[in-house]
Amino acid sequence: MKEIKREIRINSEYETRQFGEALARELKPGDILALVGDLGTGKTTLTKYIARELGIMQAITSPTFTIICEYTDGRLPLYHFDVYRLNSADEMLELGYEEYFFGDGVCIIEWADKIEELLPENTKTIYITYDEKKPGEGPGRDYAKGAAPDAQQSRVYRCDF
Ligand SMILES: Nc1ncnc2c1ncn2[C@@H]1O[C@H](COP(=O)(O)OP(=O)(O)OP(=O)(O)O)[C@@H](O)[C@H]1O
Ligand SMILES: [Mg+2]
Repeated sequence: MKEIKREIRINSEYETRQFGEALARELKPGDILALVGDLGTGKTTLTKYIARELGIMQAITSPTFTIICEYTDGRLPLYHFDVYRLNSADEMLELGYEEYFFGDGVCIIEWADKIEELLPENTKTIYITYDEKKPGEGPGRDYAKGAAPDAQQSRVYRCDF
């Protein structure tokens, strides 16, 4: 994990949307956003709100089976990767990832920790976890009691930018 510059608590999907929209307004050609977090923490959801703010009208679907989806109808081209099912970094070479990473669009990569060695120095990483607050301290689950996170659980975004 790189040095964390900001830690943001996200209490609802609406806050994910606000975060995503603010981030999208800052994005420039060549930016790479790495999303690291467990199943269901909201990587695709965050990508969807970023895409919307970029002016992309096409529906954002999870590129789990295709590894990459390209959206070119917005302010910047968006290359959305989901490398969860990638078996090796070689597969990234085969799909020509360098064209995307060093191109004129924005790359968003779900499960980016799986291809850490390929990520350029300028990559912006968001580590997403479920919030670990105890009951009585507001939204949150007591993991000590073995409670599983649910969809409405608060999230924490730790950003290295
Ligand atoms: N604060 C939140 N931010 C994002 N999604 C949330 C939030 N609260 C609830 N959700 C819900 O959690 C789910 C997150 O699913 P999503 O597909 O975005 O996760 P993911 O991290 O991309 O999962 P996967 O690892 O399978 O790709 C959605 O159904 C969304 O509506
Ligand atoms: Mg996803």
